[in-house]
Amino acid sequence: MNVSCPDDVVARLATAERVTAFTGAGISAESGVPTFRGPDGIWGKFKPEELANMSAFLRNPALVWEWYAHRKKIIADVQPNAGHYALVRMERLYPKFAVITQNVDNLHRRAGSTVVHELHGNIERNYCVACGEPYTNQDVLARPGVPRCRCGGTIRPDVVWFGELLPEEEWDLSVRAAESADVFLSIGTSAVVYPAAALPSLAKRHGAFLIEVNPEPTPMTEHADLFLQGPSGQVLPLLVDALEKFRLRAGDSAELSRER
Ligand code: OAD
Repeated sequence: MNVSCPDDVVARLATAERVTAFTGAGISAESGVPTFRGPDGIWGKFKPEELANMSAFLRNPALVWEWYAHRKKIIADVQPNAGHYALVRMERLYPKFAVITQNVDNLHRRAGSTVVHELHGNIERNYCVACGEPYTNQDVLARPGVPRCRCGGTIRPDVVWFGELLPEEEWDLSVRAAESADVFLSIGTSAVVYPAAALPSLAKRHGAFLIEVNPEPTPMTEHADLFLQGPSGQVLPLLVDALEKFRLRAGDSAELSRER
């Protein structure tokens, strides 16, 4: 793959203090988690209005649970990929680094990222709609059919469905991480689902240099300062290699000038 990041951008990224990475389903594609849109996307085969909103759940909780049990199994069986691990390496290079993710697959944390703002929930968690009691996947998947809470309420996956508000604290932290970023990377997202999709332009309005990583152009591409076209599992490791080399060279020259 021939993705090149201009030297001045590498220098800008390497000398930034605050870097924020915003991710979507594309970063997990190389782990084997299907994306939502596009020819093989989940929403091409299933209807979100039947599976990912509260009225669908109230109407047919067994169908919604069957689908989530299937997705939970797919996600439990996959591993983070080179793109997730590159962001862990990047976190180590900066005093302030955050991942904002629309993904519910927990792969950033499983890879080792420590500052992760999950805007759409986490498929490893569940809670009772009546009393809010949390449940693990182990708790719920062991029960046949629709899992019920001790209080008698229905348990649901802890993911954000269409028409629901984003978790307030995660959203506030994400807005802060976007507004304060020197460099903002938008990775593997079609950038069409709001309010999350507003974050890249918010970051740019607050002065961030906006880099997009995606094999295909998106509605955001024309607003990006740099478009790195390719799969994130290949582009991100190359980018972090370039940053580490730049830092090493800068460290060597600082060392040399101290010795003189
Ligand atoms: P989409 O499925 O809309 O977009 C996935 C993006 O990943 C596309 O732009 C692809 O071109 C890109 N892509 C595919 N393979 C890639 C790779 N190997 N490396 C990098 N990029 C790749 O997924 P999202 O933008 O995440 O919401 O979708 C946003 C939200 O819509 C999801 O969080 C979900 C969905 O409905 C909820 O569930 C609330």
